[in-house]
Amino acid sequence: MGRLGQGSTEDPPAGDVRAGGAYRTEAVAEAYSFRPIARADAEEISRWRYPEPYATYDGDPSSVPGLLDPRYNYHAVTDPEGGLVGYFCFGADATVPAGRRLGLYDENALDIGLGMRPDLTGRGLGLGFVRAGLRFARQAFAPAAFRLTVTALNQRAVRVYEAAGFEVVRSFGDRGDEWLLMKRPASPEDGT
Ligand SMILES: CC(C)(COP(=O)(O)OP(=O)(O)OC[C@H]1O[C@@H](n2cnc3c(N)ncnc32)[C@H](O)[C@@H]1OP(=O)(O)O)[C@@H](O)C(=O)NCCC(=O)NCCS
Repeated sequence: MGRLGQGSTEDPPAGDVRAGGAYRTEAVAEAYSFRPIARADAEEISRWRYPEPYATYDGDPSSVPGLLDPRYNYHAVTDPEGGLVGYFCFGADATVPAGRRLGLYDENALDIGLGMRPDLTGRGLGLGFVRAGLRFARQAFAPAAFRLTVTALNQRAVRVYEAAGFEVVRSFGDRGDEWLLMKRPASPEDGT
């Protein structure tokens, strides 16, 4: 197939993005590879633009140094042809200042941040992508638990995280319940 999402035999029939269900999601997830991010990946990600209401996740040239900072453990996710389909980061860059001020990250868990390439979003591919990231993170970091911080406005992401076994453990923010803290054990209870 070509790059994921650019017209392959695995594309679901028009009008039914969920067609194929778990089998298809898992088949796609098995095809992902992870490697430490390279400059070309970071530059590509910095040009990504998400359709509203997700423009808050748009890349920016000024984010390139952060993406390449080894402390943040950014990883590129590629399809079998080597095309960039998304990224994960593990650790500090997946936390937010309001949560740090509240001491929400003191408990031992691996913080996870992620993004799929914009044209792949909204098509039911997120669960397989997240599961692949959890499998990689378990092998690479052997954490006790996984933790995510997501804006409460991003219900699309929250649904995927819940399907991947995460639960909301706290809502917080300087201006009300702006953020959700989600956690799950790292043990593969659901096959991930
Ligand atoms: C977050 C992400 C992985 C989600 O994956 P996805 O493939 O786009 O999500 P899906 O298309 O599978 O949608 C997930 C669910 O949300 C639902 N959904 C879509 N838009 C929604 C909305 N505005 N409100 C509520 N639910 C919504 C879908 O119907 C689907 O529900 P279902 O599981 O019951 O069928 C992906 O969008 C992404 O990487 N985005 C990049 C930016 C980002 O949001 N990063 C997250 C940072 S924490």
